[in-house]
Amino acid sequence: MEIQWHESLATGVDKIDDQHKEIIARINTLINMDMENMDSEEMEHELQKVLRFLGGYVIDHFNAEEEIMTRYHYPEYDEHKKEHLTFLKNFATLKRMFEKEGTTSLMITATQNQAVDWLVKHIKNIDQKMAAFLKSKMQP
Ligand SMILES: [Fe+2]
Ligand SMILES: [Fe+2]
Repeated sequence: MEIQWHESLATGVDKIDDQHKEIIARINTLINMDMENMDSEEMEHELQKVLRFLGGYVIDHFNAEEEIMTRYHYPEYDEHKKEHLTFLKNFATLKRMFEKEGTTSLMITATQNQAVDWLVKHIKNIDQKMAAFLKSKMQP
C-alpha cells in the first residue's frame, strides 16, 4: 500500500522533512510498479533503479541527521545512529538476496513492507524526538 505523507510524520525541521518526503516518494515508485505487466527483466531493472537511489539518498539523509545531532550535542545520538545502521544492514541483506535469487514480485512486496514499516516507525519514534530536541536548541 502506498505510503502518504501526513502531518503526523512532520518533524518540523524543514530540511529533514523534505528528505523524508523524497524517500517516501521513491518508495511509492516501487509500490506503484505495475508488476503484473512486467517481465522479470523489467522488474529487475526498475527495482535496481529504486534501490540504487535509495541506497545513496538514504545514506546522505542519515549523514545529515547525524551531523546535525552532533552539532547540537544530542544526548541520544548513539541510539539513533544504531537505528540507522540497522536499516543499512537490512538493506544490504535485501540487496544480496535480490542478487542471489533474482527479482520476484514476492521479494519486491517484502521490500516495500520492510521499507514502509521501518520508515514510519523510525520517523514517528526516533526522528520526531530528535527534532523536538533540535528545535529547542536552534536559534529562532
Ligand atoms: Fe533518523
Ligand atoms: Fe530520518
